[in-house]
Amino acid sequence: MRFSLVVIAALVALVTAAPPKWHQLTGYTFEQYVADYRKPHMKGSDEYAMREKLFNARLAEVMAFNAQPASYKKGINHLSDWTDVERKRLNGRIPDTKAQLTSAAFEVSAPAGFQAPLSVDYTKSYPPILTAVKDQGQCGSCWAHAATESIESQFAIKSEGELFVLSQQQITSCTPNPDQCGGTGGCAGATAELAFDYVKSAGGITEEWMYSYTSYFGDSGVCSWNSTLQTPFVNVTGYARATRNNDSAVAASLTLNGPQAISVDASHWFEYESGVYNGCNYSNNISMDHAVQLVGYGHDAALNLDYWLVRNSWSASFGEEGFIRLIRDNECGTNVDWITGGGGCIGENNTVWACGQCGILYDVVYPLVA
Ligand SMILES: *[C@@H]1O[C@H](CO)[C@@H](O)[C@H](O)[C@H]1NC(C)=O
Ligand SMILES: *[C@@H]1O[C@H](CO)[C@@H](O)[C@H](O)[C@H]1NC(C)=O
Ligand SMILES: *[C@@H]1O[C@H](CO)[C@@H](O)[C@H](O)[C@H]1NC(C)=O
Ligand SMILES: *[C@@H]1O[C@H](CO)[C@@H](O)[C@H](O)[C@H]1NC(C)=O
Ligand SMILES: *[C@@H]1O[C@H](CO)[C@@H](O)[C@H](O)[C@H]1NC(C)=O
Ligand SMILES: *[C@@H]1O[C@H](CO)[C@@H](O)[C@H](O)[C@H]1NC(C)=O
Repeated sequence: MRFSLVVIAALVALVTAAPPKWHQLTGYTFEQYVADYRKPHMKGSDEYAMREKLFNARLAEVMAFNAQPASYKKGINHLSDWTDVERKRLNGRIPDTKAQLTSAAFEVSAPAGFQAPLSVDYTKSYPPILTAVKDQGQCGSCWAHAATESIESQFAIKSEGELFVLSQQQITSCTPNPDQCGGTGGCAGATAELAFDYVKSAGGITEEWMYSYTSYFGDSGVCSWNSTLQTPFVNVTGYARATRNNDSAVAASLTLNGPQAISVDASHWFEYESGVYNGCNYSNNISMDHAVQLVGYGHDAALNLDYWLVRNSWSASFGEEGFIRLIRDNECGTNVDWITGGGGCIGENNTVWACGQCGILYDVVYPLVA
């Protein structure tokens, strides 16, 4: 009897230690939030007051949203007290156009007669082909994360189970971006395609433990990769692209070739907690500003909705253990970028037509791993 009470007490402690989910937010305070998410803000400081105000406004918005019927729930996470400027820094990725249209090694379309399976879920692969969910921090290195994750997955597939954690920092600090595609480089944004080109020309990417991530607070760092000391571990020979805006090509490439690096409009994702997201509004312009990894698709029976399964790099506190499901629809919209007012690479007209929820079908690539 005494034993089971101890066990119950331990379980209660575990349960109450977890931050509240969307249905547990009534009466949730900033003070408790600071403790739950180990925030450094000092009570009584101006910063504390500023963040408390932000938190309270977002909590109210989340609760108001959840009171309405919707296919997804909003929640509180580690981003709930970040300013809009800090949140925007998470992004930094816009669609590549001219320069990169031609540099894909080949285009992937659905082979004749191809029957896509009912669902694909690379989070359940055995042996595993996805490393743990990453945290880019306050650095617009989403593109470096999407690229690194995709190289990790391709290497694991090719080697039949050797899953290694590779260096996002090498890509963040060392990838040149002279045409300012997707931003001005490093923590200020680039594209997964540029990262693949870089790894190809550098002669490989090293492991995370040899060149560890230091850009969490937004410093891109100076490239300090030394191939003698930080052994290149995986080579990339190029990348392949699924036919743009073509749902069946994307499903086929995902099924046949593994996880894909993709571009999306994530400008309203911050509060997503669970369910099938449909918050990208096609009446507005799409603002594709984020790079992530596409790892599956399926059908949610309870909601009766088809979805794409996407791995984000905003830590496991975001969404469904770090993942988000986007509704698999066939709507399209015009992407007009917010970074340069329409330029994917500097000086280009990159007003593009992008399809799928949040533009998910527009820019779908995977690295060719040697
Ligand atoms: C790389 O490291 C090796 C071994 O320590 C050293 O000899 C070489 O000079 C370094 N290269 C650069 C470019 O720093
Ligand atoms: C990558 O390719 C380069 C050039 O072909 C080669 O020297 C190097 O050994 C390769 N590295 C790996 C890890 O395969
Ligand atoms: C996708 O590509 C195939 C050819 O591979 C084509 O038949 C189909 O119409 C395309 N779908 C869309 C939505 O463009
Ligand atoms: C979508 O955006 C349009 C134009 O800004 C707006 O009128 C509409 O209310 C929005 N719809 C939703 C569901 O947010
Ligand atoms: C979409 O972008 C265009 C070009 O920047 C702009 O003129 C238009 O007002 C935008 N539409 C909406 C609904 O924001
Ligand atoms: C930019 O490209 C879009 C889509 O191709 C086109 O509709 C638009 O007219 C172009 N704008 C300019 C200024 O060339």
